[in-house]
Amino acid sequence: MKKKLIAGNWKMNGSLAANASLLQSVLDGSAGMTCQAGVCVPAAYLAQAQALLHGQSLIALGAQDISSHEAGAYTGEISASMLQDFAVRYVIVGHSERRQFHAESDSLVAHKAQRALSAGITPIVCVGESLAEREAGQTEAVVKRQLAAVIHTNGHCISEIVLAYEPVWAIGTGRTATPEQAQAVHAVLRAQLNAATAHAARISILYGGSMNAGNAAQLLAQPDIDGGLIGGAALKAADFLAIMAAGSNAV
Ligand code: PGA
Repeated sequence: MKKKLIAGNWKMNGSLAANASLLQSVLDGSAGMTCQAGVCVPAAYLAQAQALLHGQSLIALGAQDISSHEAGAYTGEISASMLQDFAVRYVIVGHSERRQFHAESDSLVAHKAQRALSAGITPIVCVGESLAEREAGQTEAVVKRQLAAVIHTNGHCISEIVLAYEPVWAIGTGRTATPEQAQAVHAVLRAQLNAATAHAARISILYGGSMNAGNAAQLLAQPDIDGGLIGGAALKAADFLAIMAAGSNAV
């Protein structure tokens, strides 16, 4: 049985003062937790977060994006080797906010995952359908297409990714997928991974989209939900700790 992975996605939130207080409270409250955990912080705060997380192993450091390019004239981009400089363990790729607001294609997302994997950084690859796609009955087709691009580009390395199912209509809306709705999509993704690699069992599939202290335990009890990618609730120490506790207690 894999340990559940509870990953915070801070998005474009935080300040030096707020980060210090949030991380200190999370660290203080997480003694004895047995889940895996991480925080994906804005790039500007990687150095600060690395320093604050130094000397402990429960909360890993993550980033929110990575360039598909190695180095060079790509203004504003962050390379894999830069993330390596801060000992980053996870990087989110293909978050729906980047697909939507930065026009990231399935192929670009797949190449970002490849860049992370080649640097020894675990990509948290996000897939998920919009409300219109769900209502049109396209959920399965959309998430399978998004995952297929990542499988195609990464071959046998696919077993090293973390996958996150994040229905776009549930992100930041307070409208969570029911445990049954989430489990149904996770099962589809699990089957697709099983068909792609003999080592699919080691891949964690996280659920994301308004996961909070109140609904985490039920979501994490589903057989194919291996953790959570947490946005809003990751910005409040008590809420994030409650989700970590649910992840630690889930079997
Ligand atoms: P949310 O965000 O928990 O605020 O819905 C999740 C995410 O976008 O990763």
